[in-house]
Amino acid sequence: MAKNDLFLRACRREPVPYTPVWFMRQAGRYQPEYRAIREKYSLLEICRQPELAATVTLLPVRQLGVDAAILFSDIMIPLSGVGVEFEIRESVGPVVHRPIRTLAQVEALRPLEPEESLPYVLEAIRILRRELEVPLIGFAGAPFTLASYLVEGRPSRSYTNTKAMMYRAPEVWQALMDRLTEMVVTYARAQVRAGAEAIQIFDSWVGALAPEDYRTYVLPYMQRLFAGLRDLGVPVIHFGVGTGALLELMREAGGDVIGVDWRVPLDQAWQRIGYDRAVQGNLDPALLLAPPEVLAERTRAILRQAGGRPGHIFNLGHGVLPETPPDALRRVVEIVHTATAAG
Ligand code: CP3
Repeated sequence: MAKNDLFLRACRREPVPYTPVWFMRQAGRYQPEYRAIREKYSLLEICRQPELAATVTLLPVRQLGVDAAILFSDIMIPLSGVGVEFEIRESVGPVVHRPIRTLAQVEALRPLEPEESLPYVLEAIRILRRELEVPLIGFAGAPFTLASYLVEGRPSRSYTNTKAMMYRAPEVWQALMDRLTEMVVTYARAQVRAGAEAIQIFDSWVGALAPEDYRTYVLPYMQRLFAGLRDLGVPVIHFGVGTGALLELMREAGGDVIGVDWRVPLDQAWQRIGYDRAVQGNLDPALLLAPPEVLAERTRAILRQAGGRPGHIFNLGHGVLPETPPDALRRVVEIVHTATAAG
């Protein structure tokens, strides 16, 4: 079968016969098959066994009929290669054993050598490229979002320690963001060399920042990050949650595709980002729990807002919730494909 490359064409804003769709967290706890695998293996064990990571990556591709696969891994994985000790705690998330608060701790981070310390990630990518008939998306966490876990030591609502470091110890913050930017560039480049056909940068928690702080403490690193990926020639998606006040700055930072959450209507978001970029989004993941006719109508509403313009990739505004019925995801794929093919 010829490969379905609609996702890559949409990233490049080329016209496509129908709108491509994939879902953040399309592999995960909402799937009975994933839960069965998780009874035997921890999340990190799955990430570190290439055959298992590839199997889990493939599950939703076949079940849902999506137009792209995303490597099964976690944003924390490359941190193990620079010397950070962490665990992923059940129903909590990443927990870092010794949170980073000092310049000495930042300077103790090692440069990342992906082939040495993360060979299983690159091997999973190679396996997947042999198996997949849709493009494979590699990914990395963005420096701010990674820093938030490193500095807080665990998931946070207020990012108090992270912001305190930005304001009170800018030299520590700059050193940390420098190291993380370099790590992400190195890591994403290794993924593309292994066969990843696009990269998504997850700045999931950057919406916690005021625009002025984004400009001062984050934007310069993000510009350097995207510049460091440009010559690879693969599309780069720039995603964050709660970024309604930051969309113009995210555009300025970079990315061929800007990921938008559900709090901003897609037509307004795209107008602000500019039509010279592609956009990805933006159904509220909670709508997958709504009655079928409500879900269908809200899916079509997003397609109307995209207005048939080349460069829309349909996705959720954030990851699939564990409570989601798999059938709801299948129906969204069906609606996106048929509604846009007809138009
Ligand atoms: O299908 C996919 O999207 C690929 C898999 C994927 C995982 N993590 C697996 C995972 C991806 C893309 C990530 C990225 C990730 N990890 C992000 C950015 C994306 C986002 O959601 O904003 C972040 C912030 C993390 C950190 C992290 N890891 C969190 C917040 C959690 C959830 C904690 C919980 O239990 O609710 C994790 C654990 C994690 N990573 C799970 C999965 C499927 C949870 C399920 C499990 O433990 O099996």
